[in-house]
Amino acid sequence: MSTKKIKVALLGVGTVGTGVYKLIQRRAGVMVQTIGAELEVTKILVHNINKRREGIDASLLTDNWQEILNDDGIQIVVEVMGGIEPAKTMILEALHAGKHIVTANKDLIAEYGRELLDSAEEKQCDLLFEAAVAGGIPIIRPLKQCLAGNEISEVVGIVNGTTNYILTKMFEKNMSFEEALAKATELGYAEADPTADVEGLDAGRKVAIMASIAFRSRVVFGDVYTEGITKITSDDIAYAKEFDSVIKLLGVAHNTEDGIEVGVYPMLLKKEHPLASVRDSFNAVFVHGDAVDDAMFYGRGAGELPTASAVMGDIIDVARNLAYNCNGRISCTCYRQTPIKKFDEVENKFFLRMQVKNRPGVLACIATVFGDYQVSIARVIQKHVKGERAELVIVTEKVKEHYLRSALQKLQEMDSIYEVSSVIREY
Ligand code: NAP
Ligand code: HSE
Repeated sequence: MSTKKIKVALLGVGTVGTGVYKLIQRRAGVMVQTIGAELEVTKILVHNINKRREGIDASLLTDNWQEILNDDGIQIVVEVMGGIEPAKTMILEALHAGKHIVTANKDLIAEYGRELLDSAEEKQCDLLFEAAVAGGIPIIRPLKQCLAGNEISEVVGIVNGTTNYILTKMFEKNMSFEEALAKATELGYAEADPTADVEGLDAGRKVAIMASIAFRSRVVFGDVYTEGITKITSDDIAYAKEFDSVIKLLGVAHNTEDGIEVGVYPMLLKKEHPLASVRDSFNAVFVHGDAVDDAMFYGRGAGELPTASAVMGDIIDVARNLAYNCNGRISCTCYRQTPIKKFDEVENKFFLRMQVKNRPGVLACIATVFGDYQVSIARVIQKHVKGERAELVIVTEKVKEHYLRSALQKLQEMDSIYEVSSVIREY
């Protein structure tokens, strides 16, 4: 009796696509036992058909999308090319043709997840995207399925490997931001243009996807307040050490009574918090649910095989659904429309580092301004006095973002304040 074959097309064979191709070969011997069929890559869409590609069967390459779309034998399309277009159109056309989709494309899911999932549901097709958030770490499936019995109130994650690597090296090796970024680029963690990494945009897309699933209400990238790590200095790192804390770029999402709070920004985090021990390019996601309590997911958030691991898990899931004719079983899980809280209304604690005139009455003036704007002071430290100039560090209690911003604006107008050097939130 001949073995059943499931035909797969890859859209893209770069870092992730090559990993998927390799993993399909590596697992070939156990596929029949795993899914009752063999997986066969029959076509690979690329941009440049003439490029040399080590280990890839060149006869599979095509630069003609129609060849894949019109091939009725192909049941699974794996989109690992990235970007919005032409990926979005290709996915919609493939769904329309009844093909199942696996994608690693966070840009696309964070912006057009609803439209794509609705199309998948209409056609009773699978659209799976485990690799789109935190690479190899299982987080989409746990949020959608394993934790479905919870009301999730918090999702906090280190979901960008490049920035975590940079902050770790600044903290542990006293590297400058520029040195650490150069090293992250050399190691292949950073994107070709690292702006999306260091400005928090990559993490913002991942947090939008996680918040949508965790809170069952659509959050898009445009809803996420983003702030990167380019302003973090060695002085901030030194204070973090003094406070028994680390600085991490966190994606933070809370489901509160007055709406969803969602943002990405660097935060001072106490060393005891489980996320504080996540070093180098590793990622982790911390979730709080009313039944499970605290749960944390840890691992490699990027790279050829870790990301391919997540894609392969999705391919196997589609294949298992094919065996029981139950594709499209779990589609969009957003069933409510919780408002997104204006970031101005979000409350945070702040670490403020400022350069002030070293004169009697300055601290009292600062305290008055803070009092006027509802900012309550938790701690004050003054050191590094140089003649007329002193460095003042103030840690606040929780305060709404807009109050803090107004207070800082007022302070910057005062003659006795030379500069507000750092404003970092505290977890
Ligand atoms: P990549 O190395 O740049 O590879 C992209 C591949 O797609 C290349 O093979 C390229 O063809 C092909 N491609 C791009 N545009 C195309 C077009 N218009 N038509 C046909 N082929 C096209 O990208 P990657 O790092 O593998 O990332 C792929 C996706 O996975 C992205 O959505 C990314 O966000 C996501 N992701 C990546 C990682 C990671 O660690 N890299 C982790 C998680 C998620 P050529 O080879 O001919 O140029
Ligand atoms: N540049 C990303 C990171 C890769 O550093 O995490 C995967 O999204």
